[in-house]
Amino acid sequence: MLEDVDMIDISSSVTKENDPPNIQTKVNDVIVKTPVIKHTPWLEKYRPTKLDDIVGNEEAVSRLSHFARQGNLPNIIISGPPGCGKTTSVLCLARQMLGDSFREAVLEMNASNDRGIDVVRTKIKMFAQSKVSLPKGRHKIIILDEADSMTEGAQQALRRTMELYSKTTRFALACNASDKIIEPIQSRCAMLRYSKLNDEQLLKRLVEIAKTEQVSFTSEGLEAIIFTAQGDMRQAINNLQSTVFGFGHVNSENVFKVCDEPHPILIRDMIEKCLKKDLDEAYKAMNHLWRLGYTAEDILSVIMRVTKTYSMSEFIQLEFIREIGLTYMRVSQGVESQLQLSSLLARLCERADANLH
Ligand SMILES: Nc1ncnc2c1ncn2[C@@H]1O[C@H](COP(=O)(O)OP(=O)(O)O)[C@@H](O)[C@H]1O
Ligand SMILES: [Mg+2]
Repeated sequence: MLEDVDMIDISSSVTKENDPPNIQTKVNDVIVKTPVIKHTPWLEKYRPTKLDDIVGNEEAVSRLSHFARQGNLPNIIISGPPGCGKTTSVLCLARQMLGDSFREAVLEMNASNDRGIDVVRTKIKMFAQSKVSLPKGRHKIIILDEADSMTEGAQQALRRTMELYSKTTRFALACNASDKIIEPIQSRCAMLRYSKLNDEQLLKRLVEIAKTEQVSFTSEGLEAIIFTAQGDMRQAINNLQSTVFGFGHVNSENVFKVCDEPHPILIRDMIEKCLKKDLDEAYKAMNHLWRLGYTAEDILSVIMRVTKTYSMSEFIQLEFIREIGLTYMRVSQGVESQLQLSSLLARLCERADANLH
């Protein structure tokens, strides 16, 4: 999978060469190139505007589409890891349901707004009371993004508001951890759970963006982005753009420089040495990474990810994961020294003995 992917000129795919000449002028109108504004973050530029364009989590998204078509939205909570499209989904849903009334019929608040109990009592309540003329059966929507960062008091105040104005207003909450939303609110809402995106889904989107932006990339460069993003589309798109702006070319070297992570190939080598019980060589590899300035946590996080996908006997793999996990725990408790990593390598070499079992 090391072959280079050529840059693709998208203007050729937009030009419809076979179109009959009489609509040529129209086609010409369409072709007029809008100047590329280099500084728009790609995250925003490529934020889907329709539910259909959202990648992954098909089941949850199709439920949302169903609500949008029916026009009858219950209060909802979308929970899931960062960067999987929660905020985007809520915005698409609101836009699809309310169309032109989006501006006056949607109140959007996220963690950057103050959302203590006073805000619930004033701003949210006032919006819920306000009159907006909407098509029959539609409701105003209050979007509370990152709702898990609302104080408990504010959430308590919210549950009453939810009920009082249920005739005219619906709430859409997005959060990372649904257990930080108090029970009474959870029971008033339909819960939609999003999960991380998988590698194919990330790859497909990255390739689309890379082609549209005429980025020069190699397939292993995109693989590197996917490796570092760990199912987070926001991070993937951000890293793609940073690499392009920083280096102009997306290959794995550049990606790991931008993301500031140890290169997984070095880590792979290190694990291979451990499997061969060659502690000296494994230690050299680790020492090299340490001198490059990576912290124990950086190194451990990549060791863990590489080990999970490394093909070795399942028994050894589980033993390795256990040892890495234990070291992770010690490091996170504050014992962050090279000695911890050395001891991990020694233990991995020992475990590799299980090869004989
Ligand atoms: N499922 C997805 N499909 C397409 N783009 C996505 C998806 N998830 C995230 N993105 C991209 O990442 C950015 C951040 O997504 P967002 O919806 O804010 O994530 P979060 O789940 O953290 O709220 C969006 O602007 C969009 O470009
Ligand atoms: Mg969000």
